[in-house]
Amino acid sequence: MKKLGVAILGMGVVGGGTYKILTDNREYFRRTQKLDITVECVLERNRQRALDLGVEEERIASSIEEVISNPNVDVVVEVIGGIEPARSFVLQALMSGKTVVTSNKEMVCKHWYELEEEAKKMNAGLLFEASCVGGVPIIRTLTDGTQANHILSLVGIINGTTNYILTKMEQEGSDYASALKEAQNLGYAEFNPTADVEGFDAAYKLSILSSMAFNKRIPLENVYREGITKITAEDIAYGKKLGYKIKLLAIGKDTPAGVEVRVHPAFVPAGEMLASVNDSFNAVKLVGDSVGEVMLYGRGAGALPTGSAIVSDIIFAGKHPEIAYSTFENTKEADKNTKFVSDFTTKYFIRLTVEDKAGVLSKIAGVFAKYNVSLKEVKQEVAKANGVPLVIITHETQEFSIRKTLEKLESLEEVISVDSLIRVEE
Ligand code: HSE
Repeated sequence: MKKLGVAILGMGVVGGGTYKILTDNREYFRRTQKLDITVECVLERNRQRALDLGVEEERIASSIEEVISNPNVDVVVEVIGGIEPARSFVLQALMSGKTVVTSNKEMVCKHWYELEEEAKKMNAGLLFEASCVGGVPIIRTLTDGTQANHILSLVGIINGTTNYILTKMEQEGSDYASALKEAQNLGYAEFNPTADVEGFDAAYKLSILSSMAFNKRIPLENVYREGITKITAEDIAYGKKLGYKIKLLAIGKDTPAGVEVRVHPAFVPAGEMLASVNDSFNAVKLVGDSVGEVMLYGRGAGALPTGSAIVSDIIFAGKHPEIAYSTFENTKEADKNTKFVSDFTTKYFIRLTVEDKAGVLSKIAGVFAKYNVSLKEVKQEVAKANGVPLVIITHETQEFSIRKTLEKLESLEEVISVDSLIRVEE
């Protein structure tokens, strides 16, 4: 039976989950996959943590050099996260011809070209299913299952922390700060939640996923990004009345006009499948030109779900050593023939507080007309002490027209404040 030796760099949450799956299921993998997978060593600064997880003392390596020089190690699993030392460790592993399996979205997103170049030079594999949407096999689906298609779009909820926060805000009417606190208490959100709540984590994943989906490099710099920190309980309540739920969406489209990649909060109709993806769950909807819609749903984080994706890559490496790289000619920057669309088209929810006097509405409508923005719905809410809330939904319009419209509205003396701008994806 084919033997496969694994080293795990980092015995945190994902490292621990990976170790458990590999050790609990060794016999199962021997029977079902015809592979004898052993954990040859782990690299973890906190030796006690590795011991507590059941790793034998003699299998805890003291340095990356010790891991790399171990001839029994075929696959190096990097689950440290962040850029350094993860990147240097991965490069060293690849340089020595070992296949790398990683969950590190930031590293893959920012250093993909460099890592893939090194892997190709050494005929080593570079696999990263766990980097995007945890246990949901989205990368495998793109490379093996939907590869007959030109993928036209992918739309997903690919960050569990923000989905948990927005679900709590929607279901309990809580404000952003208290929903965040709850997410932190439960261990979903980190002490410094910036990467999740400002949309960086989702943008890293979208950059990787859209590159795989559209078979061309989509660098992070081309992904429009907006987080959820400005979303208020009021916006969610108004959205609810209009039949919408709010989600942090990652949207990638490949159209004749170019590639559109954006991460931002958006209202989606409450009846849409994506609207019922709640709590920390993730989902991705693909549209292929032959298959039509395909939707995947599951856990995007956690020890065992992410460990599941890591182990699936380890098994893949053991069974298919010849298929190891991205499906496109990787480049450092976007290919010069790739056009990007930043002036995208969608509908918009706009909330203003305005003065309560004659002529205000027509003046505001005039600004929308000036920038050729057609209105679908205008609702004047009950007046408050500081003015009248006005909720506006537009028809499909250009992003740049809306930005100009808001700039002009902000300058009107009748407009007390422009409170929110939320895209509406129907
Ligand atoms: N922090 C991520 C999330 C999981 O909340 O979905 C790892 O990417």
